[in-house]
Amino acid sequence: MGEFPPFPAAAVATAESVCGIPVELKEISYRRGAAVWKATGPEGTVAVKAGDGEGAAVTQREAAVLKAIGWPDYLLASGGDEDVAWLVTHWFAGPSTWQAFAPVRGDADGKEGALAASVDLCRAVAVLHSSGWIHSDLQPSHGIHTDHGVRLIDCSWSWREGTEPAAGFRGGLTHLVAPELAASINAGIQPATPSTAADVYALAGTLWTCATGRWPLDYAAAGIEPGRLTPAELRAQIADRRLPLDTAAPWPAFQDILRPVLLDRASDRPTAAELVEGLATVAKC
Ligand SMILES: Nc1ncnc2c1ncn2[C@@H]1O[C@H](COP(=O)(O)OP(=O)(O)OP(=O)(O)O)[C@@H](O)[C@H]1O
Ligand SMILES: [Mg+2]
Repeated sequence: MGEFPPFPAAAVATAESVCGIPVELKEISYRRGAAVWKATGPEGTVAVKAGDGEGAAVTQREAAVLKAIGWPDYLLASGGDEDVAWLVTHWFAGPSTWQAFAPVRGDADGKEGALAASVDLCRAVAVLHSSGWIHSDLQPSHGIHTDHGVRLIDCSWSWREGTEPAAGFRGGLTHLVAPELAASINAGIQPATPSTAADVYALAGTLWTCATGRWPLDYAAAGIEPGRLTPAELRAQIADRRLPLDTAAPWPAFQDILRPVLLDRASDRPTAAELVEGLATVAKC
């Protein structure tokens, strides 16, 4: 994870006013130039993100997205410049989708809870899409299942349809990039444009990964070690649909709903709301 950058001094006042004094900081993650802390005090908990270097613009963009989306109970403060940018959000208490599926991956009897979590995640994405926004980086750790519903986090690349797409978008997590989006990025079509269909692909890939503990595509079957490939090389494989779906089938009824979403053309994919309906049929099995 590397040594953390300094906690942004300008975020201290917000953290103290929301959490009370003293505020205790816990280092959560530091990747690609963006550090996240969990700040906890006697009266509350917030998340603080600080981006420097390449992470500064991405963090600035996330703050701009959160202001534009206008979700209540989310963004508390933001600031900085092109060298260091920061934002403070409410801390969302609850398991990520990945964590919600832990019993299923561990062979414990957690399918009912995992199915409910899946439906909740798809509903949250459906609501987002109905508001004209696309998340653009759905992955197992970006849905937090709180007592008040799913909160989607890491909205740096989220995009409102009809506006100018962000320069520098590379399709989100490469393992979950939709083939048509991978193709357009590799073809150099700029700006790379997110879509609801690509979001639904990443959503299905997220649920597949959470259930199986493996990425949706069977890299080994194609003789590929994804860690040895650059993102562009991996996108080329995905774009050409050269990789079969992974054959691990710990939960066939659940995977049967997701398989066509991952294999069909973008125009044939269900919407997130339709995926909710599909998952409801698993419950009846
Ligand atoms: N508001 C929040 N509530 C709860 N947990 C959070 C919150 N914000 C961030 N986290 C935690 O911190 C982790 C990293 O946050 P986030 O995904 O926003 O940062 P990131 O550095 O952009 O990550 P990456 O680029 O690797 O996806 C999340 O996976 C989650 O565990
Ligand atoms: Mg993230």
